[in-house]
Amino acid sequence: MANIQFSLNGTSISVDCDLSERLLDFLRSKSGKTGVKEGCGEGECGACAVLMNGKIVNSCMVPLANVAYKDIVTIEGFAKTERFKILERAFSETGGVQCGFCTPGMIIASESLLNINPHPSDEVIKIGLSGNLCRCTGYNMIIDAVKLAAKLGDGLW
Ligand code: FES
Ligand code: FES
Repeated sequence: MANIQFSLNGTSISVDCDLSERLLDFLRSKSGKTGVKEGCGEGECGACAVLMNGKIVNSCMVPLANVAYKDIVTIEGFAKTERFKILERAFSETGGVQCGFCTPGMIIASESLLNINPHPSDEVIKIGLSGNLCRCTGYNMIIDAVKLAAKLGDGLW
């Protein structure tokens, strides 16, 4: 066991933990952040995506050893932002949410993409979301959602 400190959704926390424990397991089992989903568990689907120091990471691939002194934001923390409200509306209006399992990861990936490129082309959106898998939408509605968010949220990113 070791003690680490990090920021979770803007709150500093101190955790006694096994450093090899996956961030995903800590978030879901010990912090109640069940918006972070486990799909593949192998870094392939993006369902478990969170922001670490503002960059998207798959939390199933991050041991707690790598989290010390970092700033972690899950979908629950991002949900308090204006950007989230825009993305939520855009995903809803375009039908980019169906079963919803992939949606938290898609929203985190969209935030990460729009943060780098506030007005992405379809091709750039496809590349930006290429680490996130969806079994329901066929992706076109998700691409439309990101384009609509870029328009509705012009100036927020
Ligand atoms: S559960 Fe982490 S990438 Fe699939
Ligand atoms: S909406 Fe069902 S997996 Fe994407």
